[in-house]
Amino acid sequence: MNNDEFRELGHQFIDWVADYRASLPLFPVMSAAKPGAIRAKLPKTPPLKSGGLGDILKDLDATVMPGITHWNHPGFFAYFPSNTSYASILADIVASGLGVQGMSWQTSPAATEVEEVVMDWLRQMLGLSGAFTGVIHDTASTATLCALICAREKTSNFSQTRNGLQGGASKLVVYASDQSHSSIEKGALLAGFGKANLRLIETDKDHALRVDKLLAAIKEDVAMGKLPCALVACIGTTATTAVDPLKQLTDIAQKYRLWLHVDAAMAGSAMILPECRWLWEGIEAADSMVLNPHKWLGTGFDLSAYYVKDPQHLIRVMGTNPSYLRTAQDDEVKNFRDWGIPLGRRFRSLKLWFVLRDQGIEGLQARLRRDIANAGWLKDQVDQAPDWERMAPVPLQTLCLRHVPKGMKDEALLRAHNMAITEAINQSGRAHLTSAILKGKKVIRVSIGAESTERKDVEALWAQLRDVAGKF
Ligand SMILES: Cc1ncc(COP(=O)(O)O)c(C=O)c1O
Repeated sequence: MNNDEFRELGHQFIDWVADYRASLPLFPVMSAAKPGAIRAKLPKTPPLKSGGLGDILKDLDATVMPGITHWNHPGFFAYFPSNTSYASILADIVASGLGVQGMSWQTSPAATEVEEVVMDWLRQMLGLSGAFTGVIHDTASTATLCALICAREKTSNFSQTRNGLQGGASKLVVYASDQSHSSIEKGALLAGFGKANLRLIETDKDHALRVDKLLAAIKEDVAMGKLPCALVACIGTTATTAVDPLKQLTDIAQKYRLWLHVDAAMAGSAMILPECRWLWEGIEAADSMVLNPHKWLGTGFDLSAYYVKDPQHLIRVMGTNPSYLRTAQDDEVKNFRDWGIPLGRRFRSLKLWFVLRDQGIEGLQARLRRDIANAGWLKDQVDQAPDWERMAPVPLQTLCLRHVPKGMKDEALLRAHNMAITEAINQSGRAHLTSAILKGKKVIRVSIGAESTERKDVEALWAQLRDVAGKF
């Protein structure tokens, strides 16, 4: 492809994306593709001869689109929001067009410095003090793995420079709630703590970590000669957006010298709203924290914001200094390759920069407030409806609910009934819901927050839920 062809095709692709976005409500939200169906439409071998991209738009429509679940659809209430605003799409085009590899400052100074600035802007927007410094990671899973490795190295006094965890006399322990995201367990296992040294602490009726149970577990571990190492507090659990009692956890972390990592992957975005900041009161005592602008802040996947108190510790743990990467400016600049796991880094900060320029803090705040108000409206409807049960508090934009027909008491029947409702809604194409299990009970999750979701879409979902439930 030459430059002229790229220009011409590029306009067509922008039109294609714009048409797609404009017609989103017409698509069934969840892909109905059966396993293997998309693969079967593609040739088994790669093209030998150059064919150009002339027909690719037709192939996108025929081959790819049937296998797409539409995360930016107004009827998308599954998993969590994954906003990809127009500004973010344009930034991705620029980042790819520039083709920058931002591993070191020198490999493209702008990639490092724009990132420094937007991470600092975001810090200010979240109301965090200047004691935190930010770096962009691909996902919260990676950021949490980094946090747990940093915790391990702090508690073990840099065991990685000796015999690693294998050489330690005491076993290091990680604590998190039984509602914490699977990335915490994955991170603990990948960081070498071992499953036996990961304590998933019982939660209370609101699905937040129980401080009494945490203290008991720590004391038990100390008595057994183990070394408490890290505590992961969740501000906004995946299933219900439950909020761990951070203030109390900071005291415990200080007393037992635990690394305190805060997983605010979903709920962190809400901290741009001053009225929500009580949810993470105590955050200033955290050693590290992660939130995902790629969830609820308009910035398309992937862009995870990782904040740390002690960048020098992070660099000491993650840094490498091979001769072929050294530059004359190393003492004056940040080389973000030393702030995480991968060497190579995309120019992700452009996405956040574009989104902030486009929407401003006020624009983002207005949208989040809209979503929280929509969730509040749905909460009121569920609370007033006789045959419906709300299964968790609604601090933000996620609701967990179930339909309980009169006389139906058996948990297995209730589970099947609510799964049938979820399935029917998903099959209808008008909305997409997922489920979760809370203290053994299956619940329907409604996660509100697609950019295009308005009150009328939430009203339509509620009408459909009642309609479908009444038919079984
Ligand atoms: C609370 C929480 N933590 C971590 C994650 C993992 O996010 P990522 O996909 O960025 O690794 C999620 C994703 O849903 C989440 O809800």
